[in-house]
Amino acid sequence: MKFQVLALFAALAVANADHVHPHLNRRQDTTSSTSSTTSSTTSTSSTSSTSDSASSPAAGTSTTSTVAPAGTTTTTSSGAPVPPGSSTSSTSIPPMTTTAAAAGTAIPPLSEISSAMATRTALLPTNTYTAGAKPSFAGAPGLPTPFVFSAAEWPTWDRVPPTDSTEVQAWMKELDGHDIPDLTPTVDGSCGGDPAAAAAAADRGWWTCGGHTRSTDIVACPDKLTWGVSFDDGPSPFTQYLINYLEEKQLSATFFVVGSRVVERPTILVEEYMKGHEISVHTWSHRPLTSLTTEQVVAELGWTRKAIKKVLGVTPTTMRPPFGDIDDRVRAISLAMGMIPIMWSRTPVGGVFDTNDWRVAAGYVKGPESFQTFQNILGNATQMDTGFIVLQHDLYEATVDLGVGYTIPYALDFTPKLNLVPIGQCVKKPTSDLYLESNTNTTFPPKIAQGVDTDGDGTVDTKSGDGGSTAASSNGAGSTVDVAFAFGSSLFAVVAAVAAGLI
Ligand SMILES: *[C@@H]1O[C@H](CO)[C@@H](O)[C@H](O)[C@H]1NC(C)=O
Ligand SMILES: *[C@@H]1O[C@H](CO)[C@@H](O)[C@H](O)[C@H]1NC(C)=O
Repeated sequence: MKFQVLALFAALAVANADHVHPHLNRRQDTTSSTSSTTSSTTSTSSTSSTSDSASSPAAGTSTTSTVAPAGTTTTTSSGAPVPPGSSTSSTSIPPMTTTAAAAGTAIPPLSEISSAMATRTALLPTNTYTAGAKPSFAGAPGLPTPFVFSAAEWPTWDRVPPTDSTEVQAWMKELDGHDIPDLTPTVDGSCGGDPAAAAAAADRGWWTCGGHTRSTDIVACPDKLTWGVSFDDGPSPFTQYLINYLEEKQLSATFFVVGSRVVERPTILVEEYMKGHEISVHTWSHRPLTSLTTEQVVAELGWTRKAIKKVLGVTPTTMRPPFGDIDDRVRAISLAMGMIPIMWSRTPVGGVFDTNDWRVAAGYVKGPESFQTFQNILGNATQMDTGFIVLQHDLYEATVDLGVGYTIPYALDFTPKLNLVPIGQCVKKPTSDLYLESNTNTTFPPKIAQGVDTDGDGTVDTKSGDGGSTAASSNGAGSTVDVAFAFGSSLFAVVAAVAAGLI
């Protein structure tokens, strides 16, 4: 069995060598050894990768993990990223196997923060919130009844959702009347993977290659020395450690959440929201959006928006593209659907404010390198005329520990003094503007002519949609399944199964 699967894995890896985005990662899937202990009471899933997770050992137990050596294009035990510019060779397979030590109980010394570190027990929210409870911002609707996951109602976790559903076809109507540039999807969302698109990056407004932005993007905080704090890819079993730390320090942050994780761990999302953090859309399956068809982008955004609304009762007016991979087509789709893109900062000389914490989770660097990157970012930030936004993650314990143990404390003690606030606040938006249901601003997001049918049931259901109506009808448009992604997913499923010690 093991041999067969490894052979399949090798075949898939080779088959994928030219198709997998250099950054394409499964970073939205948390370690197979932790997922089963999340707060979700509804972790049933029909997908292979997630059922692998669901039946794997609990976090905090001694477990076998599989770690790919750096420089291969495999994913790691934590489902972490593939390094840019690496090449695959079958000699790198199978990955080496290590046995993790017993559960850690505290934040390790910086030098020990790595993909192989012992992880603390998954931490579950202890607060319970009843239907109707409201967060503290103006116009907030009450929480819906607690979310119950039913696999039949949602697309498969961590896959690009099908585009022929009634929901996606209903959301496609939100693009009517908007000028969506007719750009061919990029090959894989990377510059190297699509030299022709890269050569036209300025025209395309492609952020990935050269950092091209448009005035509608949020790329920094206007006030100097203000840090718009954010965490991507959760909710995870470690997010609660972060929430607790932020509360202790009386800080708030913006959480860019993945739809698949939202329906997996709804109570953690509720905790984020009710504790005063800002919630924003980070897609359903964390693919590079420029590489998807327009219908697929709509599906990725629409399902995540719907998941957040189901759990919290609100529809975000902002989004962040995974990998920062946005161009004028993806921007226009996002804006038409009522979501303003939020990026992370770059310096005029090309410095990108990415802490590289995800590279720690991937096993490519360790804590000290990522922390040094963060220190450089703050150093560079002091030279900027504006404030700044930094990329960090709450999907892995390594990245959460870097945040609560190192980067945030360092920033709090920094000279000159920094102001740490969530991104909506740093751009001076009242929290009510960040959700359609409470938003009273008619220009943020840009006017949504037909209103928004967040749940995709064929009826407009936001306040801003009062004047319109959209009758949903499935026109049976064919699904455009992306073969590369299908392969990528199979590859991941196998890696996850091996990592979980199931095979
Ligand atoms: C800015 O970042 C670069 C590259 O990370 C680093 O070498 C430099 O020291 C930083 N500048 C400051 C003032 O910290
Ligand atoms: C609406 O949002 C825009 C963009 O952020 C802002 O310039 C404007 O002042 C806001 N209007 C109101 C009434 O808050």
